[in-house]
Amino acid sequence: MERSLLDPRIYIKQSAQGVAYTAAEALVRLSKRARAEGAPFRLALSGGSTPKLLYQLLTSETNIFRREIPWDIIEFFFGDERWVPHSSPESNYKLANDELFSKLGIREDHIFPVPTEGLEPDEAAEQYEQSLMSVFGQGEGDYPRFDLIYLGMGDDGHTASLFPHTQALHVEDSLVTANYVPKLSTNRITLTAPVLNTAANTIFMVAGASKAPALKEVLQDEYNPEEYPSQLLRNSLGNVVWLVDKEAAAQLEGDYRRYRGPCDRRGQRPP
Ligand code: 6PG
Repeated sequence: MERSLLDPRIYIKQSAQGVAYTAAEALVRLSKRARAEGAPFRLALSGGSTPKLLYQLLTSETNIFRREIPWDIIEFFFGDERWVPHSSPESNYKLANDELFSKLGIREDHIFPVPTEGLEPDEAAEQYEQSLMSVFGQGEGDYPRFDLIYLGMGDDGHTASLFPHTQALHVEDSLVTANYVPKLSTNRITLTAPVLNTAANTIFMVAGASKAPALKEVLQDEYNPEEYPSQLLRNSLGNVVWLVDKEAAAQLEGDYRRYRGPCDRRGQRPP
């Protein structure tokens, strides 16, 4: 089946662990390529709970990832953040710091948390945008190109903090925006869709039966990003990969149900 540039690649894994394993393998491959090119590797982490499995794999002493990944060249950013202190259990930064940065001894000057304290949401978005422009050396109107952005998807089809029927979905003249989410009665800070779509590589990690209805809508039903914001991810480079477990893929139709992605070099498929 001819895959158009904008068609995402969907790999169905046996479990959430398999989703995390394949996501970690991609980080090995992409970061080692950057190391070979003598370039930094700019990675945006997703929020929520799914990344915890990935962080546990990346920091484990019992598999290749911790050893193989050139951690010293990776600069860590966040695709979005909750409007809470970094000490809050809700903070995406706190999860990454507790489960990844602190365990790997990542240099502080390679970690770029979204500022959430002492500023109004709009001020924080502006400040994060300035730090992105400074790190990426961006001029006005240019979008920074992350080497890899990890994303999750909510049960409602949101991604990052681009929630259905919220103003952030339509922001194209900024890199970062504050977004009040009525259904959660909370403020969020998020990268905007143009920035997400400029990434060299984008990997969705989606697991669990609760995601199945939205995943079907996002990947196989009509284009309706107001309702299903994850559909906004139509990366200009075509490098959007969906790593989904069997439960989340349960409602997908056609050969996607069977497609588990390429074998590795040993002819084995990751779990
Ligand atoms: C956040 C996220 C959000 C998340 C999805 C999936 O800050 O909550 O960035 O987009 O990725 O809600 O969350 P789970 O991984 O917990 O299902």
